[in-house]
Amino acid sequence: MKWLLNLFNSSIGQKLLMSLTGLFLCSFLLVHLIGNLQLLANDGGVAFDNYAYFMTNNPLIKTISWGLYATILFHAIKGILMALTNRKSRGANRYAVNAKDNASWTSKNMAILGSWIFIFIAVHMAHFWGRMRFGDTPLFEALPEVDGVKQLYAGVAEAYQNPLIVLFYVVSMVMIALHLWHGFASAFQTLGINHKKYTPIISMFGKVFSVVIPALFALIPIVLYLRQVS
Ligand code: HEM
Repeated sequence: MKWLLNLFNSSIGQKLLMSLTGLFLCSFLLVHLIGNLQLLANDGGVAFDNYAYFMTNNPLIKTISWGLYATILFHAIKGILMALTNRKSRGANRYAVNAKDNASWTSKNMAILGSWIFIFIAVHMAHFWGRMRFGDTPLFEALPEVDGVKQLYAGVAEAYQNPLIVLFYVVSMVMIALHLWHGFASAFQTLGINHKKYTPIISMFGKVFSVVIPALFALIPIVLYLRQVS
């Protein structure tokens, strides 16, 4: 057990934890996207509201959700702390030739991108998750209900009537794409994935995922906005 604690306290162990939590968050993004694409069905939100009802009331999913919130907090806080430590040690070696000086803008700014994404998630959860779970408290505005099913589609559509909210979502999806583009490559490197045939395929998968998933997420507020103005 002590070796495990030692591993996770070492710098490679910390990078390993960032990679594993990052990959878990990517799997959440995929599941979240598949569920959210139901918002695009032209059915007045019936399929999406039934899906949201299931996701909020299923005990297994509720438990997994608490693991998800803990993982988001861990990944964000650890990432910022690691970036601060790196900055400090770079400051101490100001005159040394540093390999990071040649690194891309994205890789140097993972903590800034990550902080934006963290703020996005907080605002985003206050918008929808808060209204869904705590709409019956003074903290959040209640959602309309039909036969005990909260009309979350109506809440989402209402938020996306505002072009500034749509813009905030689209810009945040660009930030997520940049964060994932470097994050995937870095995670594969940390996990030591190095195979002549499979590594190029895995790294191509990472690049496609980084672009396609945020692009499809961005499509949702754009389509819902256009649906309401046309
Ligand atoms: C842009 C399109 C998106 C839409 C329309 C959307 C919609 C929603 C909705 C309606 C909920 C509330 C679900 C419920 O409480 O049952 C929710 C929850 C959540 N969303 Fe999103 N989302 C989007 C993108 C994202 C992205 C890109 C992330 C992460 C970077 C994210 C992270 C979360 C989290 C962490 C929750 C709470 C999940 C839970 O309680 O299990 N969402 N989203």
